[in-house]
Amino acid sequence: CGSAEPPAPPPALAPLKATAPFPIGLSAMTGQFDDPQWVDLVRTHFNQLTPEWEMKMERILTADGGYDFSAADRIAAFARDNALRLYGTTLIWYAQDHPHFHDLDQTRFEADYDRWIATVAGRYRGQAVGWDVVNEPVAENGDGLRDCLWSQRLGQDGYMIRAFEQAKLAAPDAVLFINDYNLENNPRKGATFLRTVERLLKAGAPIGGLGTQSHLDIEIPAGQITRFMRELAQFGLPIHVSELDASLRADRRLDTRSRDEKLAQQKGRVVELAEAFMALPEAQRFAFTAWGLRDTDSWLRREPEDDGRDQPLLFDAQGRAKPLAAALEAAFRR
Ligand code: XIL
Repeated sequence: CGSAEPPAPPPALAPLKATAPFPIGLSAMTGQFDDPQWVDLVRTHFNQLTPEWEMKMERILTADGGYDFSAADRIAAFARDNALRLYGTTLIWYAQDHPHFHDLDQTRFEADYDRWIATVAGRYRGQAVGWDVVNEPVAENGDGLRDCLWSQRLGQDGYMIRAFEQAKLAAPDAVLFINDYNLENNPRKGATFLRTVERLLKAGAPIGGLGTQSHLDIEIPAGQITRFMRELAQFGLPIHVSELDASLRADRRLDTRSRDEKLAQQKGRVVELAEAFMALPEAQRFAFTAWGLRDTDSWLRREPEDDGRDQPLLFDAQGRAKPLAAALEAAFRR
């Protein structure tokens, strides 16, 4: 008898950074610093920050080849003020060259390439714990490496070896990463990445860590993520899950499943990733980074193909921890 108890509120998510035995990272943009909910959730759950865009060449290099660090410095200051490690991205990326580099003779090209790396990595020396030195070198279909301005001017492996050597000089204490995506989604691409790492290490490139972005395809078979993580671990280097999100979008696929079925599929793959990461030797667990806080913060929601309903991240539009976040927290607890 008596009136029914009101339903209990969902249990609050324990701070991810307190549960996980490794740093928990988040991508950030300066515009988010004015959002009290974003700041509060970041302070509660995260202890590492990656600038989502503002430490990239496109943002830092000015039209005349000068440097504008105004936004990048604000991110570095926010990280320092909030006890967050700073993770730098990205020094050399096929997708971002700059008009400044297009018409330089070879001597000047090499000097300005080196200067870019020295200036950017050097500026955050002592603060940035790691850098994506080379981002996304493997061809989209996994067949070989990408052809880009950097490879055309400095050689296919040459541009990468040079970038690592220059970054080592500029930031000797930072862990220097080679970073790519679709490595677990596309085994062919994963294999090419591993062969590339092996070759560059043999050539003496000071690669200190391996980044797997983990923009997960939720439809890949169970076990595929675990297998790739084991292969990645064979070098004994620290591993960074550097840009986790898991889109529900069914691009070009016929998909008649309910949203709940897709969310279950998503949870399965994200938990598999977390468990595979947990299974790494402690010294190889560099950090686990989400590429955005709330679903509405995701870069995927800014793409033209987006239907306004994708739910790729850990917190909902209102800033509430989703069941996906709770599942991740539970995986980190085991
Ligand atoms: C994306 C950011 O999310 C966007 O805000 C920016 O405009 C372009 O870059 N792989 C990467 C990231 O290595 O740097 C990309 O980030 C997402 C894909």
